[in-house]
Amino acid sequence: MQEKLNGLKESALKELESINSLPELEGWRVRYLGRRSELTALLRGLASLPIEERRAAGLLANEVKTSLEGKLTAKEQILHELELERLAQKEAIDITLPGRQMPQGRLHPVTQTINEMCDIFVSLGFQVVEGPEVEWEYYNFEALNIPKEHPARDNMSTFWVDLVLPVNGKDGERPMLLRTHTSPMQVRFMEKNRPPIRIVVPGKVYRYEATNATHLPMFQQVEGLAVDRGVSLADLKGALSEFVRRFFGTERRARFRCDYFPFVEPGVELAIDCFVCHGSGCSLCKGSGWIEIGGAGMVHPDVLRHGGVDPDEYTGFAFGLGIERIPMLRYGIDDIRHFYNNDLRFLRQF
Ligand code: DAH
Repeated sequence: MQEKLNGLKESALKELESINSLPELEGWRVRYLGRRSELTALLRGLASLPIEERRAAGLLANEVKTSLEGKLTAKEQILHELELERLAQKEAIDITLPGRQMPQGRLHPVTQTINEMCDIFVSLGFQVVEGPEVEWEYYNFEALNIPKEHPARDNMSTFWVDLVLPVNGKDGERPMLLRTHTSPMQVRFMEKNRPPIRIVVPGKVYRYEATNATHLPMFQQVEGLAVDRGVSLADLKGALSEFVRRFFGTERRARFRCDYFPFVEPGVELAIDCFVCHGSGCSLCKGSGWIEIGGAGMVHPDVLRHGGVDPDEYTGFAFGLGIERIPMLRYGIDDIRHFYNNDLRFLRQF
């Protein structure tokens, strides 16, 4: 019996040494101290021993039990501490690591250009308004002095929309389209607002055209309209020259040359002196020394009438500037399609 107890103790202690996790230790406890362990069986068997042996064996058995229990508690504590240490190491936050970069968005270069242009016109007393991209043929063409069969329609190959709706307050259903320019807002705005009027209208326009490095079926414009008593061509030149200086720099000069648009009379083409060659001629300005940036003119009396403004009392000027061309010139971008391909390598540069 005593031999058995000693052997048991020895193998239990030996096994305990190699244990290094709490679940393993629990297995050990069940095996050596549990209700079905050999030790428990031996303790139960004491009763059947002859009385002389029983005392010594009992003492030893209890001593073995106490000693194993003591070792169990001690080991448990050690393993607990080890476990805590391991967790501390595993879950530690290394505050010396550099932070992870969050991708940051930015405004599209075309949006940046529009904002910059509108800011300048706002500082000159203009108000920013927007109009619908799905428009009536009436506002896009007729109200702007471009009746059917007018050759100016050829320059604006149109996306027609499968919609005919009555124009506000006017009889009959009228065809609709994707606006080919921002000019339809001129008559729309005059219908609802009395002079003095000073507005700029940024937005998308659509033309049914093949795509290439300088043409897209969708691009953007900023329209301007100023209507008041005594507005003259000098005011138009003043406002646009000031815009050119503020936007392109004080060195830039604006050039106004005769041009034709059905909704203005007289009409002008607006150009700035080339900022690469300063007027002497280079590849950017195609040798001319000047770069066109838009059209403008004095609002045609018929257009004022369509907007409910009396041309005998009021006059106005209007202008339309292409947007994409401006960052293209500024940054030397040679293909308009870059703006809308959504290639981050391109967009991140702005
Ligand atoms: N709407 C014209 C276009 O898209 C540009 C334009 C020219 C607008 C003269 C104007 C203007 O307001 O007066 O080609």
